[in-house]
Amino acid sequence: MTDEAKITNTQHPSTTPARTAVSISGPLSGQGDVCELVLRALPQWFGMEIGVLKYIRKAGELPSFVAYCGGEAVGIALVERHFERSAELSLIGVLPARHRMGVGRALLATIEPWLGDQGVQFLQVKTLSARSADANYARTRAFYVGMGFVPLEEFPTLWNEQNPCLMLIKACARVG
Ligand SMILES: CC(C)(COP(=O)(O)OP(=O)(O)OC[C@H]1O[C@@H](n2cnc3c(N)ncnc32)[C@H](O)[C@@H]1OP(=O)(O)O)[C@@H](O)C(=O)NCCC(=O)NCCS
Repeated sequence: MTDEAKITNTQHPSTTPARTAVSISGPLSGQGDVCELVLRALPQWFGMEIGVLKYIRKAGELPSFVAYCGGEAVGIALVERHFERSAELSLIGVLPARHRMGVGRALLATIEPWLGDQGVQFLQVKTLSARSADANYARTRAFYVGMGFVPLEEFPTLWNEQNPCLMLIKACARVG
């Protein structure tokens, strides 16, 4: 265990503990560079160039939350609203050297109340389903379940047959 996290967000301060000193900034815009930095470090998850470019473009447009450790950007999450009362965690990624230190938890601890205060009731996320034997994505699903997401439905061909999709969902707490 290292330091207790110091999560700073002027709009939605959070006291969720983490095992590394992390501060979350957001919502931000124009975070394509940070997005590229993080995704290029995660080729086991984001190996397709077309997908990386799509997320970099989205990070320029969507509300983005960036995790910093000691002034260094170590993680990013993007939020997309399709409807008034629900949102999608369009992307979350943390540099490999910082995995399992509470950075992903800290990102969600800022995003969820921010959404809740806007009247968003549910946050959904899509990831690779357990129909695929990918061990890296098994860890990703463990993160989502650990964070309280509940599997909602599988879509075996939404992306393609080699990449079956699982949708998970979580209720957003309102704090304000
Ligand atoms: C998924 C990801 C964002 C999680 O961020 P993280 O900072 O590593 O996760 P955290 O340390 O905040 O984990 C929070 C909780 O999730 C669960 N969890 C996280 N990783 C886990 C793992 N490998 N195995 C089991 N549970 C895990 C645990 O409950 C953990 O709490 P604990 O450490 O107190 O037990 C990060 O690992 C990542 O960038 N993975 C690669 C990219 C990716 O999968 N993106 C999503 C694509 S859909």
